[in-house]
Amino acid sequence: ASLAALDTEVPPPNRTQNRLSPPLPRAPQAFRNEPDTDPALVANRVWGRGILERSATSTLGEATVAAARIADADRLDALVAAAAEAGGHWGHVPPHTRAELLDRVGEVLAVYRGRLVEVMASETGKTIAEADVEVSEAVDFAHYYAERARELGAIRDARFAPVALTVVTPPWNFPVSIPAGGVLSALAAGSAVVLKPAHQARRSGAVLAEALWEAGVPRELLTLVDLAEGELGRRLVASPAVGRVLLTGSYETAALFRSWDPELPLLAETSGKNAIVVTASADLDLAVKDLVTSAFGNAGQKCSAASLAILVGTVGESERFRRQLADAVTSLAVGYPQDPAVTVGPLIEPVAGKLARGLTVLAEGESWLVKPRQLDGTDRLWSPGVRDGVAAGSEFHRTEYFGPVLGLMRAATLDEAIELQNAVPYGLTAGIHSLDAEEVAVWLDRVQAGNLYVNRPVTGAIVRRQPFGGWKRSSVGTGAKAGGPNTLLVLGDWHPVPAAP
Ligand code: ALA
Repeated sequence: ASLAALDTEVPPPNRTQNRLSPPLPRAPQAFRNEPDTDPALVANRVWGRGILERSATSTLGEATVAAARIADADRLDALVAAAAEAGGHWGHVPPHTRAELLDRVGEVLAVYRGRLVEVMASETGKTIAEADVEVSEAVDFAHYYAERARELGAIRDARFAPVALTVVTPPWNFPVSIPAGGVLSALAAGSAVVLKPAHQARRSGAVLAEALWEAGVPRELLTLVDLAEGELGRRLVASPAVGRVLLTGSYETAALFRSWDPELPLLAETSGKNAIVVTASADLDLAVKDLVTSAFGNAGQKCSAASLAILVGTVGESERFRRQLADAVTSLAVGYPQDPAVTVGPLIEPVAGKLARGLTVLAEGESWLVKPRQLDGTDRLWSPGVRDGVAAGSEFHRTEYFGPVLGLMRAATLDEAIELQNAVPYGLTAGIHSLDAEEVAVWLDRVQAGNLYVNRPVTGAIVRRQPFGGWKRSSVGTGAKAGGPNTLLVLGDWHPVPAAP
């Protein structure tokens, strides 16, 4: 992409026209979250429609993916060695200089908003709105980690030594924001990066890399690889030159990585089986709205998604609540994102395995409040379902399905609800809807999850405001959340500064 081409791209009109300025040092600005594109403005909807039309035939990123394709081990080893060497130098560049580059990346990512949204819609079936928030989050990561890098430079009583090379292996479901978070945290900490996008989202990863190179990130500090076969993935991850592996993916993938090398320096954000508790004191209208957002955004394909609603006491018997939930779910517009009315897009792949069971197989005592339906012959388009009568300890209670299906459970008391919420192997997000401060306090004290949300959806964490990461099997080897004050601190090693003689 050339700068001239960028200048002809019309940005959404509710934001400042971002012209690329020369990469001069600029005074650090106080961090503020990047706004999403406002669909209430007609001009933004026109902008979005143009992107959706292009997305049907989009080829963005293809050439970059082809260039990044690696089919033999020697080539991979050479790239890893070159990246590690570059990282060794980058780690000695003062943090405030690294921060300047990160700030510039944030500016360029904002200019790339249109093409990032286009490639995500084209490749993963995301709606404009779901893709748009990812770009905002990526911009936030750049400026926020720039701020954290400056802070790192001010620490005096210990020496932070970044690892030379970080491997970033993101998932397909957030194909821009999650790789951006991994890559930018590592660059800010002073490490070079090898980025291997998920195979379902390789073009989105490529356009992200193009934006970073355009912003001035040297090629040897950000190496994009598209690996022809799985054995090369193992070779990359387990390479002795790699100082950290940042994985976002399933718990099973993290376990696979660990099986390759038990000492692997792995920081992984993994699966979730997330529930929202609804008590009798809740605003039930709001609870319905937030359940639908949390369960069916991105067709339920989020590690953060709610897949259980635990209804306390009379809520479980409330016909009004059940009818409102059913109405809300059946009125969601399901389809392909090229139709601007659509709010629930397709699944990334035809339904198989445990998700197929989640969408079709009822266990004893279960029934459908809303039965999921397959809407076309692709097996990728399913209308959302709500399953009633999910029993404690059942498969549905404990399994991450990663798709558009929500289960209803009942609890006699808040204590019982918290027990059900905690009785899963994971602990990523958790929610409560309650207008009783005492209930909320009890819940906050006892619930086992990384991100807790009160009277709002459990998806859509905001950089700095809600650093993101989990407990139990939702996190492997980590200890710092994404988009939080400690993210950079785990990307290197700490050495005491020798006392002055
Ligand atoms: N960070 C993403 C969310 O909060 C996964 O939904």
